Amino acid sequence: MKSHVKRLYVGSNLKMYKTVQQTVAYFRGLDDLTRDIPESELCLFAAASYTALYTVSAELSKMRVYLGAQDLFWEDTGPYTGAVSPIMLKECGVRVVQVGHSERRRHFGETDSSVNKKVRASLHHGFTTLICIGETIEEKSWNVTEERLRQQVKIALNNVRPGQLSKVWLAYEPVWAIGEEGTPATPEYANRMHQVIRDVLMVKFSNEGQFVPILYGGSVNTENAIEMIAQPEVDGLYIGRSAWRATEFNLLIRQVRSVWLEKSNSD
Ligand code: PGA
Repeated sequence: MKSHVKRLYVGSNLKMYKTVQQTVAYFRGLDDLTRDIPESELCLFAAASYTALYTVSAELSKMRVYLGAQDLFWEDTGPYTGAVSPIMLKECGVRVVQVGHSERRRHFGETDSSVNKKVRASLHHGFTTLICIGETIEEKSWNVTEERLRQQVKIALNNVRPGQLSKVWLAYEPVWAIGEEGTPATPEYANRMHQVIRDVLMVKFSNEGQFVPILYGGSVNTENAIEMIAQPEVDGLYIGRSAWRATEFNLLIRQVRSVWLEKSNSD
């Protein structure tokens, strides 16, 4: 079953690099540079550090770029020192919440089960929820990638109702492809794994499953972005390093957009 996603989705995970003022400048720059591209065609977002969220939404009104958070906790309030709740994110003007990034899984003990709690809390509060999944290099070498992806999707979406699915996005990010040490997946490999993910969605949610955007992430750059987005099952890109400068990101977006327009016109 083919993807029926009608928009191009492109976002950046800003990780833990930018100060508040740098984040504001980034959003302002990206917003100005991409304002001419209709929102009906391109959904653009960036997930910033908690400390910058409030200032970005207070200083930049009517942004075209959706403001994203990199994580959340599932409870609304309580004795959870250091945690940030959905209510707090809402107060900061956040629209997209990323959950389950491999760096959260690796450094902060995130599990499939905690991802599910976060996904449900995020959807309950009406956030668009970007669920990150992907196999480790070990899982790939054991040849269990497809099982692992199926498991991650099923657990992350456990007890999510079909009616909530319009707010779910998935990012397929093989762990071995992410960051300085990463090797990008080949476009064909990514396409195959996106198909596996789409099939799980279709089995679990029937037709609703066709409309969930599946983004590829992991060492996306100007060299591989075009081929990646040309794949029939790749609905968008989730980018770290190559998207941290607004001007470079804008160029990449435009390259990708023209290929995506060709792809969607030929459907
Ligand atoms: P990268 O990061 O593009 O720098 O590999 C991707 C991610 O972590 O989402």
